[in-house]
Amino acid sequence: MKKMILVLLALSAAVSVFAGGKSQAQSGSGKGLVGVVMPTRSEERWIKDGNAVKEGLEKLGYAVDLQYSDDDIATQTRQIDDMITKGVKILVIASIDGSALSNQLANAAAAKIPVISYDRLLMQSPNVDYYVSFDNYKVGGQMGDILITGLKLDQAAAANPVIIELFAGSPDDNNSVGFYQGAMDKLKPYFDKGALRVPSGQIDRAVVGTLRWDAAEAQKRMENLLSAYYSGNVVLNGILSPYDPISLSALEACKAVGYGSTPGKPLPVVGGQDCIVASVKSILAGEQYATVLKDTRSLGAATVTLVDTLMQGKTPTGLDTSSYNNGAKIVPSLLLDSVIVTKDNVQKDVIDTGYHTRAELGL
Ligand code: BGC
Repeated sequence: MKKMILVLLALSAAVSVFAGGKSQAQSGSGKGLVGVVMPTRSEERWIKDGNAVKEGLEKLGYAVDLQYSDDDIATQTRQIDDMITKGVKILVIASIDGSALSNQLANAAAAKIPVISYDRLLMQSPNVDYYVSFDNYKVGGQMGDILITGLKLDQAAAANPVIIELFAGSPDDNNSVGFYQGAMDKLKPYFDKGALRVPSGQIDRAVVGTLRWDAAEAQKRMENLLSAYYSGNVVLNGILSPYDPISLSALEACKAVGYGSTPGKPLPVVGGQDCIVASVKSILAGEQYATVLKDTRSLGAATVTLVDTLMQGKTPTGLDTSSYNNGAKIVPSLLLDSVIVTKDNVQKDVIDTGYHTRAELGL
């Protein structure tokens, strides 16, 4: 939190003109139109993200065109085209496929519209001005830590290895790379000493990825893994999951073959990401073990401050200028911190902070 306040102060204290003179200083009400595109309304987090950015910008006097595209790339492309035609002053884009928007980004650059890549890095284009996200590699590390703690891996040995299966996020989302790498780097020492084993042998990110983060697809894969590799005495102890709906679906697949209801087959330890209501309920019920909370309100607030800084013709400072290369350039980034949530800190980090209310959690 402290880090974020410092970053926000640094952003708003910046004084020089935005590089390239792309935005125009404006003041008073009706400060200009900001285009915000989000991938889908069918995932809880993007609704929260969209609301946080829209409400924050409107409070400062900007008009906001907020669009969702139902995870359809053609729709998202069209929305951005329309926003450029409408004359938005800045574009905030959470992409579906990070590499699919190069033409739109080129058009935005030609129209001198700054582009902020929101949460997911826009790839293979020089026309991306800023990236606002969480530290995705660290988030992955937290996914690894969840398994290390939940499975007590420090006590595990090659004589009796802990058994897990692995899931990764959508291959067209650059975040999946950081999440998976961060988690696997944490788990590597345990694999190396034989204390951790993946019976399916499916380890490659391309093989364990889940296109569009589709939980139904992940559930099918979990069912297939269970029937192909766990029909004998092998018991699955844990699952690496990058996303709460995947965690819940994987748990469903496990329950369907007796996990959680058969002696010697407890539910596997599963983490997740996004701290969605259903997962927090599951954590409180002792099923999903943990999740990673990325507070969308903080990401929204950081984005609003960045937009406002640029609209005032200032240059944001205090950004990370080394971590995120999108294949065409290093994109200056603002990276926030995330928090692991288990049963033990739901009250402190989820309820007390107002991320979810007791009522939403059915308490
Ligand atoms: C986001 C995650 C989210 C996932 C699926 C990723 O790009 O960083 O927070 O769970 O997309 O929407």
